[in-house]
Amino acid sequence: MHTYPILVNREHPLPSGYRPTQLVRVRIPFHAAPNDPKRQMEKPAALAAERLFAAARRRRLCLVGVSGYRSYIRQFTLYQKNGASGETAPAGTSEHQTGLALDVSCPSLHGELDPAFAATAEGRWLARHAPFYGFILRYPKGSEAVTGYPWEPWHIRYVGIPLALWLHLRRLTLEEYHGRRG
Ligand code: DAL
Ligand code: ZN
Repeated sequence: MHTYPILVNREHPLPSGYRPTQLVRVRIPFHAAPNDPKRQMEKPAALAAERLFAAARRRRLCLVGVSGYRSYIRQFTLYQKNGASGETAPAGTSEHQTGLALDVSCPSLHGELDPAFAATAEGRWLARHAPFYGFILRYPKGSEAVTGYPWEPWHIRYVGIPLALWLHLRRLTLEEYHGRRG
């Protein structure tokens, strides 16, 4: 059984001990040290991200990966550091732990994760084309009450192409697809 539509949020934490089955290094430009584990994703998501980034490059747009896979321990440390500010998920409740999520930036933002990304050529292209490669923008503007997170135009989540296109066309979040709230 594939788990691409898996819902992970504060109300629906990952089963304890969850590990992605096949983490691989994503071959895309990355704003991270060469051996940083955050360069990894679950294999089908990694391949889809490579295709997405290559398509952007053909349009002379430069997407840059910032953060893919995060272990439980890494998320725990981040949460301790950032505090319960509402933007960082507590350990066990971040979809970065699934290896299916990727934070994306571009050179004009120097790899920062900033709402200004949405207005860049890269951010605009990503919002329109990500679903054709199996990714949704997971935390849309206006859905904060449903997802439980502020708008994040940089956070994409692999769900597979058919579901990504369907959610995109119907403007639905993953919470609404599962009939649950964040
Ligand atoms: N910022 C997202 C919600 C996370 O920490 O997974
Ligand atoms: Zn993210």
